[in-house]
Amino acid sequence: MCGIFAVIGSREVSSLLIDGLRKLEYRGYDSAGIATIDNLNNDQIGQLNVTKAKGKLINLSNLIKKKPPKGHVGIAHTRWATHGKPNERNAHPHLDFSGQIAVVQNGIIENYRDLSNSLKLKGIKLTSETDTEIIPHLIGLEIEHYLANGLSPNEQTLLIAVQKVLTLLEGTYSIAVIWSKAPNALVVARGQAPLVLGFGEGEFFCASDTPALTGFTRTFLPLRDHESALLTPLGIELYDDDGKRQHRAPSIIEGAEFFADKRNFRHFMLKEIYEQPETAQQWIDRFLPMDLPSENPIAMPVSKSILENIEQIQILACGTSRHAGMVGAYLLEQFAGVPTKVYFASEFRYAPPPLSPHTLTIGVSQSGETADTLAALRMEKERRDSTQDPNFSFHQLGITNRVDSSFGRELENVIDIGSGIEIGVAATKTFLGQMLSFYGLTILFASHRQKRKSQEILDLSNDLRLIPKQLTNLIKKHDSLSKEIAHLFVETKDVIFLGRGINYPIALEGALKLKEISYIHAQGYPAGELKHGPIALLDQHVPVVSIAVPGVVYEKVLSNSQEAKARDARLIGVSTHRSESEMFDELFTIPKVSEWVSPLLTVVPLQLFSYHIAAHKGLDVDQPRNLAKSVTVE
Ligand code: F6R
Repeated sequence: MCGIFAVIGSREVSSLLIDGLRKLEYRGYDSAGIATIDNLNNDQIGQLNVTKAKGKLINLSNLIKKKPPKGHVGIAHTRWATHGKPNERNAHPHLDFSGQIAVVQNGIIENYRDLSNSLKLKGIKLTSETDTEIIPHLIGLEIEHYLANGLSPNEQTLLIAVQKVLTLLEGTYSIAVIWSKAPNALVVARGQAPLVLGFGEGEFFCASDTPALTGFTRTFLPLRDHESALLTPLGIELYDDDGKRQHRAPSIIEGAEFFADKRNFRHFMLKEIYEQPETAQQWIDRFLPMDLPSENPIAMPVSKSILENIEQIQILACGTSRHAGMVGAYLLEQFAGVPTKVYFASEFRYAPPPLSPHTLTIGVSQSGETADTLAALRMEKERRDSTQDPNFSFHQLGITNRVDSSFGRELENVIDIGSGIEIGVAATKTFLGQMLSFYGLTILFASHRQKRKSQEILDLSNDLRLIPKQLTNLIKKHDSLSKEIAHLFVETKDVIFLGRGINYPIALEGALKLKEISYIHAQGYPAGELKHGPIALLDQHVPVVSIAVPGVVYEKVLSNSQEAKARDARLIGVSTHRSESEMFDELFTIPKVSEWVSPLLTVVPLQLFSYHIAAHKGLDVDQPRNLAKSVTVE
């Protein structure tokens, strides 16, 4: 998390830095700050100006508007606090002991305690609680050393000092550095956290993410791990971790401008919920057009090697993406007959199961940058490669909304869910896109393994083709209903979500959405588990949301819901309209669809329910407290 943006060129940069940060605010919004160097009279020594503010970017932007700091080079940062409280003191940029070097960092420096102890022994006083502050001090010490040995204060000295310090750092990070004694230089480096260079006309950029650069340039070059770069108004020099000059051509990215507007919606989240029919339609147009041959019933570009020889699948993901993976696992096992397990990527890293032969590993991440998911995938690749036994080869597949991310760059096979940029921190349309990709894989595996009759596959495909229209109707209907009932839950402290079978992950997702944007405690359970503990929580103050869709477990979920009602819980149903559904105090009806495709619909009223409760409470729906859209730290 955290976003870095930096620029060097011939224009005044303070407003450019704010524009860049605005597009990175989804990565964290605990504080923001910029540093520029005012190169006074084209002198060799400039003046470093630093402005920081606690809270959202708007606070910093107001300060900058009042008193824009001068300078043609600058670094900027939007923070998601890891080490140290979200206050101004801990906000980036951080300075060295001389006040001449400024650094912004994204990531975590794991050995910062050892490094800060060594700095303290040298008499350097740290002024913040962050892991970042050690970096400018270490660079300052290196520069002092080089200057004492006769080097001149210039950009080359800054570059080699930064490269030296990189060898001391452990962890996942990316940094941008400026020094008032090298006012025409900006040094950046990547150690596993994303960083992209941008080539403009007479100006050069770097940012944590490509969309932050799209307003400025379409020519990009992602830095590789352990690379550094020197940016000057004349161009960019790229170096590997041995300090050897690298030459790689940048690429041109086509496509729409990143910066979406809310149109007439009050929040991005609501707009993105409304965009789900479009996400589904585009997915169908790409992968499931009408004229597909029966022997090849889905146009998903997945290499044959992935389909052949696979005996089992493991899915690695976090949060909402893991819930999509759980729906996927249900489909892959129950429809396509492939044994599939889903893991929290963060757990998998430290407790992987024993290696199984002929396994496909699927990573799911809307951002394509989630540190835990990436690390779990890398670790799995390493341990499989190290066996050198072809039975244990690493077959991998990524599902992401950002093919221009680390996922896209590192994984050989990637399914682009193509949901379009999602700004609301709470994932909605990308969740739908991820689930759809699993439907595609399910059709692919089921037909390839001949696990299902062609008619069954055709039925599933046709049911999927109806989803966009059904979503459109559903969203309209339940937007009004959720808005109407939201006020009933404003004082609510706890909510239980129940689902079973393919809708159990949707109960988890409903609970996660409610927690993250309305700050109401919510827990999802497989409905049958209610009586094994959670039922003790129930009374008239704890509403129960029950997903009861006709199918294998319909009657069971209804009985479990009755058990809740008998304990005075207010019962909210997500179900089709049937006589039994009268038991619900509030009912979100969905059309009578096959249970297989039902999660694509049942999730929608739950998204709207959470949205309207949070909006009614006047909360910041798009940027809920403590969260970030892209979690690039462990
Ligand atoms: C919740 C949400 C998070 C993410 C999780 C993984 O609405 O968005 O739970 O799903 O942080 O992020 P990605 O999908 O980017 O790997």
